Amino acid sequence: MNDKTFVWCIFLALFSISSSWAKSVENDVNKITTNEVASSKESTENNAANAEEELTPKDQLLYFTLVAFRDMSLEYVDLAANISESLLTDEDLQPNQSTTIMEFRKNITQFLEQYKKYDGIEELFNLVDFYSNTTSHYFELTAETSAADMLKIKEKLDKYGSDELDREFENLFMKFGEQFCQKFDEYKSKLSAEELQQEKVMFDWLEEFKSIQNAEEKIFSFEKFFRFYEE
Ligand SMILES: *[C@@H]1O[C@H](CO)[C@@H](O)[C@H](O)[C@H]1NC(C)=O
Ligand SMILES: *[C@@H]1O[C@H](CO)[C@@H](O)[C@H](O)[C@H]1NC(C)=O
Ligand SMILES: *[C@@H]1O[C@H](CO)[C@@H](O)[C@H](O)[C@H]1NC(C)=O
Ligand SMILES: *[C@@H]1O[C@H](CO)[C@@H](O)[C@H](O)[C@H]1NC(C)=O
Repeated sequence: MNDKTFVWCIFLALFSISSSWAKSVENDVNKITTNEVASSKESTENNAANAEEELTPKDQLLYFTLVAFRDMSLEYVDLAANISESLLTDEDLQPNQSTTIMEFRKNITQFLEQYKKYDGIEELFNLVDFYSNTTSHYFELTAETSAADMLKIKEKLDKYGSDELDREFENLFMKFGEQFCQKFDEYKSKLSAEELQQEKVMFDWLEEFKSIQNAEEKIFSFEKFFRFYEE
């Protein structure tokens, strides 16, 4: 499993859920879709707390998850933008060097343009996906089978820390995973025996999720969580 696929896979699930869920509880999602909210930690927490109170415990769990993914994504795109700036100014990656490099620069430039004007949680998730799409295939290149300009791009991505970015995302996700399990147990403790029975599949999944130690496997498993919210 290459290490970018999971980012793509989880964000694909996030798009479908955040947009369908946004329709059912419109006001609450609006509170986490603005950049002003995202940029102010204090108001984020207040708004999140108010919004959370109005939700059912099960929706609170999803809300908690979307807020956490928003925060992880913010960190991801900020670092990705920083890496992009370095890539564009690198003297070995100037547009006159090859058409591949020129196209790569075009992709990165487009990412930066979108980064500077994105608005809302869906566009944010989209940005993560876009950066991941643009850079992912370079990580699998081998010296024997790849063109020199492709390898040059790979070398520069490594140099400016694009592979570490994915490790960072994994670390953030593992921290989130622990908090998520606590939150889930809280939710569980509020339910009657009958409700517990109704949500049995979800709790079985939680036990499976808790037992997974490997970060990539854990991220893949997490995709299943979103399915409990599909109509
Ligand atoms: C952004 O990149 C520069 C190097 O180009 C580095 O000095 C700086 O610490 C980076 N900022 C963040 C937030 O990582
Ligand atoms: C590309 O342009 C830069 C100046 O922008 C120049 O220094 C460099 O030699 C050029 N490289 C090639 C391969 O033409
Ligand atoms: C530019 O990005 C697209 C995907 O968005 C990708 O298919 C293409 O290979 C990228 N080009 C380069 C030179 O990396
Ligand atoms: C990333 O690539 C996938 C698969 O090729 C595609 O479905 C998705 O729309 C792309 N995302 C962006 C933001 O371009």
